Amino acid sequence: MLDIKITKTTEPKQKPAADQPLGFGKIFTDHMFIMNYTEGQGWHDPRIVPFQNISLSPAAMVYHYGQEMFEGLKAYKSENDEVYLFRPDMNAKRTNVTNDRLCIPNIPEEDFVQAVKAVVDIDRDWIPTAPGTSLYVRPFIIATDEFLGVAPSHTYMFMIILAPSGAYYSSGLAPVGIWIEDEYVRAVRGGMGFAKTGGNYAASLIGQVKAHNEDYSQVLWLDGVERKYIEEVGSMNIFFKIDGKVVTPALNGSILPGITRNSTIQLCKSWGYDVEERKISVDELVEAQKNGKLEEVFGTGTAAVISPVGKLRYVDDVMLINNGEIGELSQKLYDTMTGIQYGKLDDPFGWRVSV
Ligand code: COI
Repeated sequence: MLDIKITKTTEPKQKPAADQPLGFGKIFTDHMFIMNYTEGQGWHDPRIVPFQNISLSPAAMVYHYGQEMFEGLKAYKSENDEVYLFRPDMNAKRTNVTNDRLCIPNIPEEDFVQAVKAVVDIDRDWIPTAPGTSLYVRPFIIATDEFLGVAPSHTYMFMIILAPSGAYYSSGLAPVGIWIEDEYVRAVRGGMGFAKTGGNYAASLIGQVKAHNEDYSQVLWLDGVERKYIEEVGSMNIFFKIDGKVVTPALNGSILPGITRNSTIQLCKSWGYDVEERKISVDELVEAQKNGKLEEVFGTGTAAVISPVGKLRYVDDVMLINNGEIGELSQKLYDTMTGIQYGKLDDPFGWRVSV
């Protein structure tokens, strides 16, 4: 159990108006959580302080070799003003999976969840309530040794910042167009594609720029060896409904094990769908679309929730999905997932955690 020291701001910021468009990750609350790590001492000095800039040596290792990790979850406010997190224990577990890969010391899962709850609680009045909005929670760890040698750092900072946010994609629930990248790759087997670390996202930017230049909003990555099998979108996992079955790429080490992905699989199975986690080649998709069997495509992610895909482009093939409209399963998943998250529906899996 952490003994968190709390220093409240004396200059609270103006909160966004109820009807103000929030965007995603642009506005930050009054407070943040910080905890330091020093080799030999472990994690120490957990504290909540006013949201502020931090000061680091320009030689801090994170700036040079990218030893860092991050997580993403959301806090939701119900119609009765209750505050919920969604499966924060999964974020705590994944933090340590990422930490192991990046040689960052583990954080006890219960400390991670306690810290999230504590900082969300302090800034609970910042949780927006307009439809589709929530408080995006961004825990992250950076390597802080002042040293230019390539080695794991001996000191770290763990921080949690909070951003009242709307939909991740400006189009909201309207289906997005996705570019299947056939030149660059995001991750390779044995690499760190399964870990939530900045380097994976840095590697994805060039594909995103390429996709934007072609008027597509996101990139679908193929495997790093044969550039043949579907992996993930980068900001979300991907699902296909093919001939009545729900199909998603199996976790193979280069795909992020999404919490919304896991929840989607559980929901679909509970509704009686056959769910297949397996390799899916891009050729299989093109074929299924030609035969009229590619019924729906959607992404899943904490930020993106359930994001229908209306169009896929692979080299010269442009695949229109479900006439560019949101599919029945995508809509049902969105309604059920958000219904559970905002406390509007029963929570049969015990996913909601009160703050
Ligand atoms: C999330 O969905 O929380 C993520 O971390 C994706 C991020 C790139 C916005």
